[in-house]
Amino acid sequence: MNDASIATAVVQWQAAHGRNHLPWQGTRDPYRVWLSEIMLQQTQVTTVLGYYERFLQAFPDVASLAAASQESVLALWSGLGYYSRARNLHRCAQMVVEQWGGMFPRSAEDLATLPGIGRSTAAAIAAFCFSERVAILDANVRRVLTRVLGFDADLAQAKNERELWGKANALCPRENLEQAMPRYTQGLMDLGATICLPRKPSCLVCPLHALCRAGRAGNPEAYPVRTRKLKRSSEAWWLLIAVDEERRVWLERRPQQGIWAGLFSPRVFDSREALEQAVALQWPSAGAPRDLPAFLHVLTHKDLHLHPVLIPVRAAAVARVAEDGRWAAAADWAGMGLPAPVRRLLDEELAS
Ligand code: ADE
Repeated sequence: MNDASIATAVVQWQAAHGRNHLPWQGTRDPYRVWLSEIMLQQTQVTTVLGYYERFLQAFPDVASLAAASQESVLALWSGLGYYSRARNLHRCAQMVVEQWGGMFPRSAEDLATLPGIGRSTAAAIAAFCFSERVAILDANVRRVLTRVLGFDADLAQAKNERELWGKANALCPRENLEQAMPRYTQGLMDLGATICLPRKPSCLVCPLHALCRAGRAGNPEAYPVRTRKLKRSSEAWWLLIAVDEERRVWLERRPQQGIWAGLFSPRVFDSREALEQAVALQWPSAGAPRDLPAFLHVLTHKDLHLHPVLIPVRAAAVARVAEDGRWAAAADWAGMGLPAPVRRLLDEELAS
């Protein structure tokens, strides 16, 4: 096996069989490529398509995004999840304007200094837009490369992770970089997303089959090797859905840190007693609470067991007016940044 034949095989396969008509392809505008790469982290292409178009309509360039309010950015992100991406996106746009004169830096090294742009995303932008010879290594590509190389060292150890980055950089094309780097980068992503799947990879149609150590050994599913498992936890949240005479809901902006940061949500309590105490204090004239069906919302590191409790109140009787709280009718919350499960809940229970 040699490195050059791997790069060549990926480049040729991408041209013939890869994805070549996605809306963020066919451009070298770093703003568009950056936006797509951030949206595509942890989110499927089919979901991103609509969000990407709407986002670009609202914010066609980095200056308009930098000048926008965080609230309007989060509203357009609403439903994509992983909201720290949206907050970092906004801060990144502001830094590009303030520190880089409105032009994205061109090297992966400089790009990686910006908020929300990790090493692999920086490399993707630099390779797609500026043809820099630098490797990406997201989860999909990590899988492809560990299999091709038969790299079985434990990636939970930083030194092994570093070694893999080194090998990934060495595998990049060495010729015709202007065309080859974007194609190679996209090709590795496409292989990981469509052929070199975590379970039952389609080795028979893989352009790297003859060059792939794991493929030849017949054990691709043994890669990548990582011993440390994600520690998951779970929490129960009671949601106080205060509804007034006009079917408006009381929503408050969540703190800037933690789950659903910066989004609007009904007030959250960690027990039913705490919720009832708050109601007794703030809305002594509230009607009888009605339990809505509890449901599970799964986050990366946490299972959230959500218990919505509907409380009829009179809007005029709000005792404590939170700084960032408001009454929202269905038409209002449609345009606000809400966590996806909250939006679903309100739409199902309260939109008429
Ligand atoms: N996932 C991350 N980046 C991507 C890209 N450029 N095309 C398709 N899927 C991706």
